[in-house]
Amino acid sequence: MSNSKGTALITGASTGIGAVYANRLAKRGYDVILVARDAKRLAEQAARIKAETGRSAEVMAADLTAKTDLAKVTKRLRDDQTISLLLNNAGVGSNAPFAGADLDELDKLIDLNVTAVTHLASSAAANFSAKKSGTIINLASVLALAPEIASAAYCASKAYVLSLSLTMNTELTGTGVRVQAVLPGATRTEIWERAGIDVSKYPPEMIMDVEPMVDAALAGLDLGELVTIPSLPDIADWESLNADRLALRPNLSRNEPAARYKTARVAA
Ligand SMILES: NC(=O)c1ccc[n+]([C@@H]2O[C@H](COP(=O)([O-])OP(=O)(O)OC[C@H]3O[C@@H](n4cnc5c(N)ncnc54)[C@H](OP(=O)(O)O)[C@@H]3O)[C@@H](O)[C@H]2O)c1
Repeated sequence: MSNSKGTALITGASTGIGAVYANRLAKRGYDVILVARDAKRLAEQAARIKAETGRSAEVMAADLTAKTDLAKVTKRLRDDQTISLLLNNAGVGSNAPFAGADLDELDKLIDLNVTAVTHLASSAAANFSAKKSGTIINLASVLALAPEIASAAYCASKAYVLSLSLTMNTELTGTGVRVQAVLPGATRTEIWERAGIDVSKYPPEMIMDVEPMVDAALAGLDLGELVTIPSLPDIADWESLNADRLALRPNLSRNEPAARYKTARVAA
């Protein structure tokens, strides 16, 4: 076991991707603060981590869609100088059609996947940039790049997380703070069942187990990647998509419309 690397605050640590990250980060030498709603599951998880790694594991039960709970976690992230890593992971899926969706359900998804992620990332960024070190890992999804194939609000929330991470990285460059956006493909966790989706209907070759997914994401962190897509065989495919996007930049804001939009004016 390595020396302490400070404390990692992990949201959604009671199960799935967050639970595996918590175990792996403790094995890497981090003390951990485990955040989710289910205090009993968190306590079991903390006991396992302590027994397996000897690291300290604190439980912080919080519903991140509740303003007071979210404020408690953001305050801790802003003020606790021992925290050196935020894993911004808690999220919910959805299977509902967008038209006519239950708006309270949409709000809950946005509260967790967008608002909480934003408050937590901003608070950690303030703490880490002041002390000139720290790591912020935001869990997005490959659906940020493939919005045609799943629920609209969920895909949009994950596109938000990717965009947030890219801009955060630009703002924090040179401050000693690392940002990583992780874009998992379909990963075998409870998220499917919670969203009312039968994951066994998908081809098994599309579904990754959670341990290899998290280990790949951590390998991406070690490689210094800003964006890690654990399934993608050739990172050059992402790099070329990103290069094409960046190549648009000089033409995205100009003082006159493009020629193809001028023909209508002649007719008028
Ligand atoms: N699994 C996939 O296929 C997949 C693919 C791409 C991206 N992702 C992303 O990866 C992240 C983790 O997903 P997962 O698959 O591990 O999901 P999961 O197995 O359903 O776990 C979600 C975690 O978030 C916590 N959580 C849910 N609602 C919460 C709330 N209101 N306040 C605080 N914590 C809450 C849950 O604990 P409690 O119920 O105890 O609160 C649990 O620990 C999510 O952001 C998800 O969008 C997942």
